[in-house]
Amino acid sequence: MSRVAYVNGRYVPHREASVHVEDRGYQFADGLYEVVAVRGGLPVDFALHYDRLCTGLAALQITNPLQRAAWIVVLRQMIQRNRVRDGILYLQVTRGVSPRNHLFPHGVMPSVVVTARPGSGPSAESISVGVSAVSVADIRWRRRDIKSVSLLPNILAKQQAAEQGAYEALLVAPDGTVTEAGSSNAWMVNASGEILTHPVGHDILPGVTRMVLIRLARAAGYTVVERSFTLEEAKAAREVFVSSTIAYVMPIVSVDGVKIGEGVPGPLALALRTLYVGHVAGITPAVAWS
Ligand code: PDD
Repeated sequence: MSRVAYVNGRYVPHREASVHVEDRGYQFADGLYEVVAVRGGLPVDFALHYDRLCTGLAALQITNPLQRAAWIVVLRQMIQRNRVRDGILYLQVTRGVSPRNHLFPHGVMPSVVVTARPGSGPSAESISVGVSAVSVADIRWRRRDIKSVSLLPNILAKQQAAEQGAYEALLVAPDGTVTEAGSSNAWMVNASGEILTHPVGHDILPGVTRMVLIRLARAAGYTVVERSFTLEEAKAAREVFVSSTIAYVMPIVSVDGVKIGEGVPGPLALALRTLYVGHVAGITPAVAWS
């Protein structure tokens, strides 16, 4: 079956889908994106992703090109037309097409692209054995809360990690604080069993998975403290893990070659993963699109 992409109001064959060469997303990275997991043909936490998209659009003064109900129609169509049971939806909104000029153009419609593809996330083996991370300087701009398509520092960090045989890059601020990871939020468990993760604000992306995990963990009686931790604390932690739409909860068993805890996935990371998998499994058609 051939894939279909949504581009500015049209469903087109994926291989023919394109945007104009003067799209501001292409020339200036002047746009935003979301990655939404699809499980059992339903989006995971659509409402939270949509809220983050709206917040980002407002921050960049880009008018939301579609009503919420219209977004839902498009995303449903994309899941159906591409027959995605388990996979991801990718949404991108840019300021639109205009002759290259740094200033905002007037009267230009934002560009919208949606793609959908099947996929099942990280392998069961990588979760059961854990993965490694390396530290990389966080050289990003100061509005990491905006899910901008400008991901150069992230891809450079992840590429560096991959070249060192690692799965993720822990991004480290000049003060030694771990902000988050290349494409996920970072967590650790300290000697008292508290689960720590960087507070939201301008320094990190407010991950949807992070937000849901905090709620699930607290409801299950775990102590979650939203405070930053240093790279040194992470290396001495009982557990380190990362969270994202794609990986859910991924245990990190070494950082810069330093073994974390026993060097195997920790019990809290696995417990949170189980809670999250339960949360995803509990999504019904009625709640999925509300
Ligand atoms: N990335 N931090 C960064 C820098 C990210 O890029 C992501 C997600 C997260 C986790 O956010 P969420 O839980 O909402 O997925 C944190 C997506 C998946 C990506 O760029 O592919």
